[in-house]
Amino acid sequence: MTIDAVVNLDLDGPRISRHLYGHFAEHLGRCVYGGFYVGEDSALAHEGGIRLDVVQALRDLGIPNLRWPGGCFADEYHWRDGIGPKDRRPVMVNTHWGGVEENNHFGTHEFMALCELLGAEPYISGNVGSGTVREMSEWVEYLTRGGDSPMARLRAANGRAEPWRVRFWGLGNEAWGCGGNMTAEHYAQEARRYGTYCRDHGDNRLYKIAAGANGGDYAWTETLMRQIGHLGCQHIDGTPYHALSLHYYTITGPTWEDKGSATAFSTDEYYATMVSAARVEELIAGHAAVMDCYDRARTIGLVLDEWGTWFDVEPGTNPGFLYQQNTLRDALVASVHFDVFHRYADRLVMANIAQTVNVLQAMILTDPDSDAMVRTPTYHVFAMNRGHHDATSLRVDLRTAPPSRRVGDATLTTVSMSASRKDGRLLVSLSNLDAAEPADVTIDLRGGTVEAVAARILTSGAVQDHNTPQAPETVAPQPYDGASVTGGKLSVHLPPHSFVTVSGAL
Ligand code: AHR
Repeated sequence: MTIDAVVNLDLDGPRISRHLYGHFAEHLGRCVYGGFYVGEDSALAHEGGIRLDVVQALRDLGIPNLRWPGGCFADEYHWRDGIGPKDRRPVMVNTHWGGVEENNHFGTHEFMALCELLGAEPYISGNVGSGTVREMSEWVEYLTRGGDSPMARLRAANGRAEPWRVRFWGLGNEAWGCGGNMTAEHYAQEARRYGTYCRDHGDNRLYKIAAGANGGDYAWTETLMRQIGHLGCQHIDGTPYHALSLHYYTITGPTWEDKGSATAFSTDEYYATMVSAARVEELIAGHAAVMDCYDRARTIGLVLDEWGTWFDVEPGTNPGFLYQQNTLRDALVASVHFDVFHRYADRLVMANIAQTVNVLQAMILTDPDSDAMVRTPTYHVFAMNRGHHDATSLRVDLRTAPPSRRVGDATLTTVSMSASRKDGRLLVSLSNLDAAEPADVTIDLRGGTVEAVAARILTSGAVQDHNTPQAPETVAPQPYDGASVTGGKLSVHLPPHSFVTVSGAL
């Protein structure tokens, strides 16, 4: 079947922030230790213990930001334990993730060094659940205050005279759950209090992100918006927070204990995963609509700072480490999310996939028994979509009903698309979620001229296909000749279960 669509090249949509392609690294399993950070004694190429092949792979994606140190871990993390000589840093138990000992060798200085190597902005999640206002306030001072002050002196004594720049600041994480089991009303008060004492030092400007809702909890968002709606007029420093977060994971299995395998899944499970992934649109639209009631000018951002697939851990691995493989199915989950992100870029200002290395829907898997580092199919979607960073979104208007199929009680639209333009180039992303049927798309390009296009495709023989140290390129992008432009019409053939990007000069 052919799907007809129109893109008006001269009708600008909202700007797609590069921060929609953000990342998340928690002290969880082998994400930080054994992923990003291998320690100063490692035989692998590293700088200050930070693994350089991982850094380079993420630089190649233009990684815009990195959220740290959690997740749930953030609300048990005490930053002063992670500064100073490593042999004097106290050990704690990571109660959330495997009950393992955390030696605090990766702390504030190491994280900021990692961000500098990556060329990424830090996004720090402060501890509201078990910390204090003073502790958070002093962490901000330690990181960002120049000149002479107690925290600036402490930072200098630990080897860093100049302050860092930190913009993104999280006021706790999942306050409705692991971040303190608070009610929305109680948390709103806490966020106001903590936010008040997170100061702007010098010319550093914090962008404070309050811990938002889980999935479809619109009442949480409504409460936070109601509690902060009027504060902008009252505080000379501005609002105590500037954005709300949202967490939504793509989970398919019937129960939390049985989320299904990351690699051994049926076609029915594949479609159920796609239905779950596509639900992100309903959720973002729903939370955005609640926010619109209080903030029509859209000055408060929505930040989806945890998203991605969550399957059963790989057999034989620590259940608390959340290590899962990553298949072509994960790649299509990511591509569908990005189309939605582009559509809601006027409210959605940041998103962070969970998590970057060795945890949940990772970009990168490292082998604990060798030097191998594997780029996952999800990594390749981030790479192929890089041209959307800070681009102007262009609406894709359908002229024919898109193909769909029934999946249980739901209807899954099986072709997903989005488009943008930047620096005189058009970029169109197209996903065919149908596991067996191809699709053909014709896009009438109006209001501009595109003479020729180049395309790339990410697909494989089966949706279960994935990359391993032994076969790292099983699912990798290839040049694709299934796209052409004639008389202002772009035609793209989409094989089953494929992701295609098409670009051309405008
Ligand atoms: O990403 C894993 C965990 O999922 C995070 O720590 C928590 O915020 C969420 O529940």
